[in-house]
Amino acid sequence: MKTILVTGGAGYIGSHVVKMLGEAGYEVIVYDDLSTGHEWAVLSGRMVRGNINDTVKLQELLQQYNIDAVIHFAAHIIVPESVGNPLKYYLNNVMGTLNLLNVLKQCKIDKFIFSSTAAVYGIPSIIPVAEETPLSPINPYGRGKAMIEQVLSDLSFSNEIDYVTLRYFNVAGADPAGRIGEGKPDATHLITMALRTAAGLCPHLDVFGTDYPTFDGTCIRDYIHVVDLASAHLKALEYLFNGGKSDVFNCGYGKGYSVLEVITAAKEITGNNFQVNYTGRRPGDPPVLIADCEKIGNILSWQPSHNDLHHIIETAWNWEKTRIARYNG
Ligand code: UFG
Repeated sequence: MKTILVTGGAGYIGSHVVKMLGEAGYEVIVYDDLSTGHEWAVLSGRMVRGNINDTVKLQELLQQYNIDAVIHFAAHIIVPESVGNPLKYYLNNVMGTLNLLNVLKQCKIDKFIFSSTAAVYGIPSIIPVAEETPLSPINPYGRGKAMIEQVLSDLSFSNEIDYVTLRYFNVAGADPAGRIGEGKPDATHLITMALRTAAGLCPHLDVFGTDYPTFDGTCIRDYIHVVDLASAHLKALEYLFNGGKSDVFNCGYGKGYSVLEVITAAKEITGNNFQVNYTGRRPGDPPVLIADCEKIGNILSWQPSHNDLHHIIETAWNWEKTRIARYNG
C-alpha cells in the first residue's frame, strides 16, 4: 500500500482528495496547521498539525513515515487578500513550499503533485487558455504559484523530482454525501458567498464589476466540481507511479459562466431571491478564465462526472445547510 503525504489536507480541496485517497486504498498522512482547515474534515488517515515552514517538524514526520508521494495543497488562496498583503502569500506559498521541497530532497522523496491555479495566466489573450500559454499573473497569489511552477520545472530538469502541476480553475461544490465542503467562515468565493447570502448569513451579495468586456458585463469563470478536481489528483498520482514524466495540466470543464448566471442559478436552487448589490471591480480579477482541458483528458485519462453548474451549486447548498446546522454558521 502506498503512503501519501497531503499538506493542507484539512482544507476544502485537500479534504476531498484525502477522502478519495482513503476510498482508493492509500495510506494518508495529513499535515496541516489548521489555520483555515478543520480536523473534522479529515475523513481518512492520520492528521499531524504543523506548518510547512517548520523544517524540524517536517523532517521528523518524513523520518517517521515511509512516504511515497506528496500532494501539496497547503497555501493561502484568496486573490484580493494577496493584493493587500503580498508578504503573507510569498512567505507561506513560496517560502513554505521551498522549505517543503528542500526537506523532501533530504529524505529522497521525489513524487510531487502541486496545486497551482488559473491565476498564473493573468489576462489571457486566447480563450480557452491552454497550458503552453506564457504565464503572466496579475496578482501576488498567481505570481507566487508561477514561481513555484518554475522551481519544479528546474528540479525536474536536474532529475530531483517528478511532478504534476494542476492548474485549478474555479473550484466549487461539495461532497455529494454531504460530509465535507467549504468550511472557512470567512470564505470569499462567489458560489459560497451567494449561498451564504441565501442562507441569511450575509445581508446581500456584492457583484464586483458590471463593465467587463463580456456578454453581460460581469466576469466569466470555469467552475469545476471539487470531486472532479479530487479525481484529477488520483489520476496524477497513478501517472507518476507509472513513470509518467513531469507535466502541467489545466483542471476545468472548458465552459464559462458569468457572475450573473451563477447568481441566477443560486437563486433558483435555494428558492431565495436574495439581494444583490452592484459595485465596482475587485482588484486582480481577470475578465474571462476558461480552461482548455483537452490535455488532462488525453494524458491522464481524466473524465469529469459532475460537470453541471446546477449540480455544483446544489451540492454546495446541501453542504452549506449542514455546515450551518452543525457548526452554527
Ligand atoms: N465575485 C463577486 N462577488 C463575490 C465574490 C466573487 O462578484 O462576493 C466575482 C469575482 O469578482 C470574480 C468571480 O466572482 O469575478 C469569481 O470570483 P471568486 O472569488 O469566486 O474566484 P476567483 O476567480 O477570484 O479565484 C478563484 C481561485 C483562484 C483561481 C481562480 C481561477 O481563488 O485560485 O479562481 O479562475 F485562480
